[in-house]
This record gives sequence, structure tokens and C-alpha cells, in this order.
Amino acid sequence: MRCTYCMPAEGFDSVAHANILTYEEILRIVRISSQIGVKKFRITGGEPLVRRGIVELVKEMNSIDGVETTFTTNGLLLEEMAESLKGAGVKRLNISIDSLKRERFHKITLTDKLDKVLRGIEKAHEVGFNPIKLNVVAIKGFNDDEIMDFVALAKDRPYHVRFIEFMPMRENSWDRDQFMACDEIEGVIKNNLPQPLIAVHEKNSPSRDYSIDGYAGRIGLISPVSRHFCDSCNRIRLTSDGHIKSCLLREGEEDIKTAMRKGATDEEVKFLISRAVILKGAGHSLGDSETPLENADRPMTQIGG
Ligand code: 5AD
Repeated sequence: MRCTYCMPAEGFDSVAHANILTYEEILRIVRISSQIGVKKFRITGGEPLVRRGIVELVKEMNSIDGVETTFTTNGLLLEEMAESLKGAGVKRLNISIDSLKRERFHKITLTDKLDKVLRGIEKAHEVGFNPIKLNVVAIKGFNDDEIMDFVALAKDRPYHVRFIEFMPMRENSWDRDQFMACDEIEGVIKNNLPQPLIAVHEKNSPSRDYSIDGYAGRIGLISPVSRHFCDSCNRIRLTSDGHIKSCLLREGEEDIKTAMRKGATDEEVKFLISRAVILKGAGHSLGDSETPLENADRPMTQIGG
């Protein structure tokens, strides 16, 4: 998929195989970081399920003491893979879905496969993933008239539908007119729903979460632009080319792959990871200016959501 809020239509040059972390390297980093308190590992992309051997990787990850794994996926391969992911011990799934209308889905993802994704979500539910988080990037003039259709998905199924503010990122299609703040989304939901939204507090969750009487699932609002949640953000990212990025929206990375390939010991790798955590900034500045992030060192597609 080439979701326009994430990457240019023509795509990107692929990164040379030698620059991508091997599974051995990934497992080493997981093992070492799990020893200093990292417990949840979310595998993102690009699209993580297209990487060969991913099920074996995640199975190995889950065999490390205290490690919990989750995925962010576009859902295209879930119909085939949900069962083996469950079998490999994956705890949760986040699935991107930005329209429930075929034409629009095609327009935003440049792939005419809405039905396939919906079957993937269904399959994930069938094999027992719970909750399943559905990520919806809210784009004014594109899917703002579908907000209640998305909310309805949480009625009979334990889906956690999360609306995410459209972020300006390097090389995406962001435009101020397409921006919709979470307060506005919440307003639409409140105006259209007979029941009140009941706030649920989840520690370190990036989303403001709500349950609704009579609904099996939940609603969430993620506001990276209009209301920062940096003070409760405990995430760090490891890029596929082996850099630790301590904030999605700030420059600055720790190149841990080069250190490892030069023979760094476990203690040295531990030090580099810890340093990235310590140097994590107090906050980012997204939303302070009207222009896309000038200092973003990578486009979203290389970070993975
Ligand atoms: N704005 C908001 N969310 C984004 N994502 C990717 N690009 C953007 C953006 N510009 C998030 C979405 C998507 C996941 C893979 O990353 O939640 O579902």
C-alpha cells in the first residue's frame, strides 16, 4: 500500500539488504533492551507482515523472558497470517483502515483491496485477538463523514477504534485544510450518539479512550498535533536500519547497528539504548507551525507509525 498520508505515490527506493538489521541483530537488541525494562515490542513497517520469516522472528521474540509483542499492519495479509501470528504468541494487533468505502480506500491506499482487509480483521477476531485496534487517520473532506460508521464497528465487536490526527510528515500529502482536531471528532461523535462517552484511563496510552454503554469495543482519540501527550509517552523506536529514535517527531538517533557490527559488547549496546532513553526530549513541536515538519529526518514510511 502507498497511503498518501505516509508516502509519495511513486514510492521510495528500497534500502539495501545489507543495511537492514538481520533477525539475529533484532533478537539481540530485543534481549538486551528487555533486560533494562523494555517489555512491549511493537513491530511496524513499511508493512511488517511482508518480511519473510516474520512469524519465526516473533516467536523467538516471545520466547525471551518478559517480552510482549504486537503488530501494526495494513491488514492485507491477515486473512492468511492471523492464525500463525496468534500461534506465535502475538498479543495484540493494530490495523490501519481509513475508509469503509471501496473507492475511497482505493484512493488513499492506492490499492483496491478494502474487502481483503475487512476479511483480515474478521479473521483476526475469529482467531481470538482482543482487543483489535483499528487506526483511522482522520482527514477532513475525505473520511470525516464516516466517523459514525467507524464508531459503529465497535458496537458488536471488541474493536478499539482510534481516530488519529493527520500529522504533517516529510514527503506526505498533508494540507492544513485536511486537518481535523480530536476535539472536533469528539464533537461529531457526541452529537450523533445517544449515549454519553465514558472516559477510560489507560496508563501510557497515547489515546484518550472512551467506552460506550452497549458497545463491546471502545473509541480512542489520538492527538499528536492539537494536544501533545509527550509527558506520558514512553516509546522509543528502532528503525529497520538499526537506529534508535527516541521521538517519532524529533530529529536525533542513536546508530546502534554500526556499533554492533563493530563488535560492541552487550554492555555497550545497553549503554547506547539507555542513552537514547535518557536523551528523549521533553516534547516535540508538531502543531506549533503551519508548515510540515522541517526537521523530520525521516519520512513516516521509514519509521512505521
Ligand atoms: N498522520 C497520522 N497518522 C499516521 N500514520 C502514518 N502516517 C500518519 C500521518 N501522517 C499512522 C496511522 C497508520 C499507521 C501505520 O501510522 O495510524 O495507520
